[in-house]
Amino acid sequence: MRILFVGDVFGSAGRRIVKAHLHHVLETNSVDLVVVNAENAAGGFGVTPSLAEEFFHLGAHVLTTGNHIWDKREIIEWMQSAPSGSHEPARRLLRPANYAPGTPGHGVYEGHLPNGVAYAVINLQGRVFMASSDDPFRKADEILETLRAKVILVDFHAEATSEKVALGWYLDGRVTAVLGTHTHVPTADARILPNGTAFQTDVGMSGPYDSVIGVEVEQVLDRFLRGMPAKFEAARGNPKMCAALIECDPESGRAQSIRHFMLGE
Ligand SMILES: [Fe+2]
Ligand SMILES: [Fe+2]
Repeated sequence: MRILFVGDVFGSAGRRIVKAHLHHVLETNSVDLVVVNAENAAGGFGVTPSLAEEFFHLGAHVLTTGNHIWDKREIIEWMQSAPSGSHEPARRLLRPANYAPGTPGHGVYEGHLPNGVAYAVINLQGRVFMASSDDPFRKADEILETLRAKVILVDFHAEATSEKVALGWYLDGRVTAVLGTHTHVPTADARILPNGTAFQTDVGMSGPYDSVIGVEVEQVLDRFLRGMPAKFEAARGNPKMCAALIECDPESGRAQSIRHFMLGE
């Protein structure tokens, strides 16, 4: 079976390029499961219920996020509107699982594809150079003990390359894929680890690449050069969709191949 994972969708440019390519990519590659990181979908900062619904209409099964999850306040109530055992869209939007106990929302989703194959998606956040959260390594162990699905995709939303690579090795052979998000720059290291886990340090954003990780160049330069507080806005130029396509054995959950691609206009 095939899984498509789309990296952080950033602003209107990111949404537009994903909309332009997703249908064709899913058709031509016979993709079974689609996961999209939507943490920057709303102008670069967070995601709204209506934008989340749009991704589900485009074919996403599960949406992952990261540190920007709470930027749009209306998402909090929406995420809590679905009962924990439900399969409603609001339940299929995840926030990192290793946030403090009692945080709204969920960090894991377990579902079934129309062909009966069980799958799970786990969203975790790193602790190096990021706001503090619980241990993502031990949280992964804890979650894996509860899952019945063999096909398991982990979105590790983290800043440090080392932490992402370390989690890949830690989960090798226990999950189908560990894919990094958050830095918005794709890395050239997509591979299958020795025990059958597909890995890539960062899939890269789906957004405007004539930018500084999604934001208007001039605004970021001004911040670096003068340090004055200024508004950050999503750039629009040179949009690309970055995604990883993983082929795996639905029975064992082991990955057979991973291919990263970047599609422009
Ligand atoms: Fe992001
Ligand atoms: Fe992020």
